[in-house]
Amino acid sequence: MGIKQEKQVNIERGVNMYSDKVMDHFSNPRNVGEIENADGVGQVGNSKCGDIMKMYLKIEDDVIVDVKFKTFGCGAAVATSSMATELIKGKTVEEALKMSNKAVVEALDGLPPAKLHCSVLAEEAVIAAINDYKRKQGHEVEDVDCQGCCGGCGSTR
Ligand code: FES
Repeated sequence: MGIKQEKQVNIERGVNMYSDKVMDHFSNPRNVGEIENADGVGQVGNSKCGDIMKMYLKIEDDVIVDVKFKTFGCGAAVATSSMATELIKGKTVEEALKMSNKAVVEALDGLPPAKLHCSVLAEEAVIAAINDYKRKQGHEVEDVDCQGCCGGCGSTR
């Protein structure tokens, strides 16, 4: 087994808990803050752990030109929000909507199973902000109203 695979297995087992990328995004989160006059703002929370994430989007010609976030939550929630902002910056709204929590986890080189729900929160924050943008554009959209666990979204929490 290579070092990378071994590390991944350790992360999955909860040994070493977090990858270097998670630690990096936790210690030095990208795109923290808020955007004045944002085109879309979304806030989501997990009722079980009480963590809250707020995402701000600046959108021009359907492209996310800027994104900022504020997260009141655990280290994994900070790292996943940070990575999510990196993944959607420069993408079109439709591309950003396709960003799954799995993509965030992969980009962070994995998360311990007990922390996967934190990445779901990041995905939901992006969707909530995009929905707000679409609503402001006059489109009808359903609210993100996840209270943490009907399982309908396929999340593991
Ligand atoms: Fe709540 Fe991480 S423990 S989002």
